[in-house]
Amino acid sequence: MQINYDFLDSYTFKNKQMTVRNHVVMAPTTLRASFEDGSVTDNELRYYQMRSGGPGIIVSEVAHVNHLGKGWEGGISAADDDKIPGLSRLASAIQSGGAKAILQLFSAGRQTTTAILRGEQPVSASAVAYPRGDFETPRALTHQEIAQTIDDFAAATKRAILAGFDGVELHGANLYLMQQFFSPDSNQRDDIWGGTLAKRMRFGLAVTAKVAQTIEQYADRPFLLGYRQSPEEPMTPGITLQDSLAFVNKLIDLPVDYVHLSLKDALQTPFKDKDDQTKIVDYYRQALPDDFPLMVAGLVKQPAQVEELMDTGVTFAAMGRELIVEPNWVQKVKMNDERAIRYAISPADFDLLGVPKPLEQWLLTRFKNGLPVTTDLEFDPNKPWRYYKSTPVKVPQPIDPTKLMTLKKKG
Ligand SMILES: Cc1cc2nc3c(=O)[nH]c(=O)nc-3n(C[C@H](O)[C@H](O)[C@H](O)COP(=O)(O)O)c2cc1C
Repeated sequence: MQINYDFLDSYTFKNKQMTVRNHVVMAPTTLRASFEDGSVTDNELRYYQMRSGGPGIIVSEVAHVNHLGKGWEGGISAADDDKIPGLSRLASAIQSGGAKAILQLFSAGRQTTTAILRGEQPVSASAVAYPRGDFETPRALTHQEIAQTIDDFAAATKRAILAGFDGVELHGANLYLMQQFFSPDSNQRDDIWGGTLAKRMRFGLAVTAKVAQTIEQYADRPFLLGYRQSPEEPMTPGITLQDSLAFVNKLIDLPVDYVHLSLKDALQTPFKDKDDQTKIVDYYRQALPDDFPLMVAGLVKQPAQVEELMDTGVTFAAMGRELIVEPNWVQKVKMNDERAIRYAISPADFDLLGVPKPLEQWLLTRFKNGLPVTTDLEFDPNKPWRYYKSTPVKVPQPIDPTKLMTLKKKG
């Protein structure tokens, strides 16, 4: 049966007159494979090139905008002009198969270590350590450093423009610096950058405004600006969905082209209010203007799921782990070859799929339960790179598309 999915249609960002070939996005997935100074490596280029032929948009893994913003070894840097040639190769690798290339930008804030910063203490909104696990206490940024950090986001944006990207995405999600300013847990300031909800919003909005101004000033072609958000935080006090919707309400007064939600499950309901059965994407759809582009990530794997997301009013379905496992996902859907889509990775195929070694190691250790591996490999920390115990793992059962009421057939 030939299914013509709506998500394979092209989409035009009206304000920017930029058309992307479909509604599938490769979500940012850090490869940890850059050189020590954050320069792009050939391993990274190969990985992106292999995935460039399918999605409409590829959001790169996150790049730090200044030296204190580095979050881990192997992270990409957009902090200096000497990184522009490498970033340019990265943009070309993404565009080589027809995808639009978005560079994601961040500072890790307190989510890093003195070792990664080569002796410098991590920084954040306030001197408050992440409450879970064994995290270092950061020092609070001074007012002058905050202004400098905002300028650093703008300078990194200029580098992305010069490198040939099609846009930047500000990483306001996943507990990094922009989220740390927004959160009542990590932001305990009592100056203009913290205290009330309006003041906690100020850093994210100031970065966005400055980046938008930089795009206006330097981009001589359509250039997108996206903002990624985690709508809720697990801690108490922590960001609530109401806080995030209030933020988005202000954000859309700026020339932002899309909002990107980082969710565990794209169709989840709020986890802070177990009685609330309204999906988070429904709240966002109500808060945003009707045709405002909304991108959502979280456990999206199958074509029928993407179509279902489109039917809930989501504009772009972003896929993280699934596109690690299946670089040709879109091509297989287009060729009506859905049964050939991989939903699990074989340890023997990491090289074939262009997965750099540091990502492979990370996926098999920290992400051990988050990525379906065809053999259930238990990592033995005393024997790096050796695994044992082989049992089959669960992979998703194919969804019968004819049984989904929401699935539309064309022609
Ligand atoms: C290996 C790996 C690296 C990631 N790196 C980033 C990143 O650089 N920036 C970001 O915003 N999210 C990052 N994420 C989160 C993903 O973009 C995505 O939101 C998450 O994996 C959920 O989507 P999925 O269920 O489709 O994988 C990463 C996830 C994984 C698995």
